[in-house]
Amino acid sequence: MIVKLLLDRKREGQALAAEDIRALVAAYTKGDVPDYQMAAFAMAVCCRGMDDAETLALTEAMRDSGTCLDWTGFPPSADKHSTGGVGDKLSLIIQPLAAACGLAVPSLTGRGLGLTGGTADKMESIPGYVAGLSLAAYHRVVADCGCTLTVQTGEIAPADKKLYALRDVTGTVPSIPLIVASILSKKLAEGAQTLVFDVKCGAGAFMKTRADAQALAAALVKGARGAGRKSCALVTQMDEPLGFAVGNANEVREAIDVLRGRSTARDVIDLSVEFAARMVSLAKDMDLAAARDLCRTNLENGSAYARFARMVELHGGDLAAFREKLLSPVEAQMVTAPTEGHVASVDANGIAQAAFELGAGRAKSDDTIDALAGVDLCVTRGSAVAAGAPLARLSTTTRPEKLAVAAELVRAAITVSPTPPTVRPLILEEVL
Ligand code: URA
Repeated sequence: MIVKLLLDRKREGQALAAEDIRALVAAYTKGDVPDYQMAAFAMAVCCRGMDDAETLALTEAMRDSGTCLDWTGFPPSADKHSTGGVGDKLSLIIQPLAAACGLAVPSLTGRGLGLTGGTADKMESIPGYVAGLSLAAYHRVVADCGCTLTVQTGEIAPADKKLYALRDVTGTVPSIPLIVASILSKKLAEGAQTLVFDVKCGAGAFMKTRADAQALAAALVKGARGAGRKSCALVTQMDEPLGFAVGNANEVREAIDVLRGRSTARDVIDLSVEFAARMVSLAKDMDLAAARDLCRTNLENGSAYARFARMVELHGGDLAAFREKLLSPVEAQMVTAPTEGHVASVDANGIAQAAFELGAGRAKSDDTIDALAGVDLCVTRGSAVAAGAPLARLSTTTRPEKLAVAAELVRAAITVSPTPPTVRPLILEEVL
């Protein structure tokens, strides 16, 4: 393989052979191809695209750059992957719920870089919870309780880690084939045989437009099927945050409330059931309506919460200490409604920026997250409010000087108008 010739071909819009893509990825992972050539490759793909066969070859080459896990001998395995959104605590509910319905759910998840924490950060707000497990411990946790939320190690798809860092600084993140190969290589290496994707769309999402979200959803499903997995995707709205809590510990609290039947966050409850039902339906070849009933039953009868509590215990977490932690003193401020009316919109991006100002996210990978920082909304789109009624409570333990600026962001993010807004669907479309 002569890298320069591959670059010439891609620059001219030609398709590359699978064996050339495999050789390129293997050589880059070993350090035999320099970053400047790989950056040129990423830019050529951004500009010229890749066909399905090339995308699959890139995905499988990146998957095979590290360890691939095998769940033979376990119940049918499945996972859900979200492209990420504001207040997205769905994995904390869906993974134990799917496990309670008889699946093995070996979720490898990430720490967040950006406005709010990732799933691993949220789980680590539980005192003692260790998200980074050895592969042996990770297998033991799934064998015991059926699910895990373990942080991804460097052994899984190392080519993606290296290439993503390069894409991040070379303006080559927004390319559907590169995004698909990046997401899928990790999910395929994780080994789950069914993959359900939540592609979020809107102001608080990576994909801002419906057309982009649709294209990514279709490409993820096609790629997963091409690699032999069962798969479907839902494109879901992310103009408004999910649920009421945006942060880390408060999101865990909200997820626990859903699992214990104590939450009024309809969007979180309904989407959790819809995603878990698709995992169960595909993994067990079960009718979707029957899978949905099974999920509702296991959410309502406490089975999903029991799986969650056991998973936390196996990861070293202490839920009693977590409840105590939620009572710790914080610096707080309320934001109230300027006038009487109806909440017309809650801008997810503005709420996430406020949470970030308060310390809930990280700008650099070595920044520390304030687990108790965040925004707790008191309203949702459509709520009727009186003048002066609470709209949101802001909390921080590390950045009290940011409360005023965060309050301004939240005020600007929540629009109150005289008439109620129209009802919008949570699921914009399904890609089968
Ligand atoms: N998330 C990923 O894991 N990879 C991408 O390329 C984009 C989002």
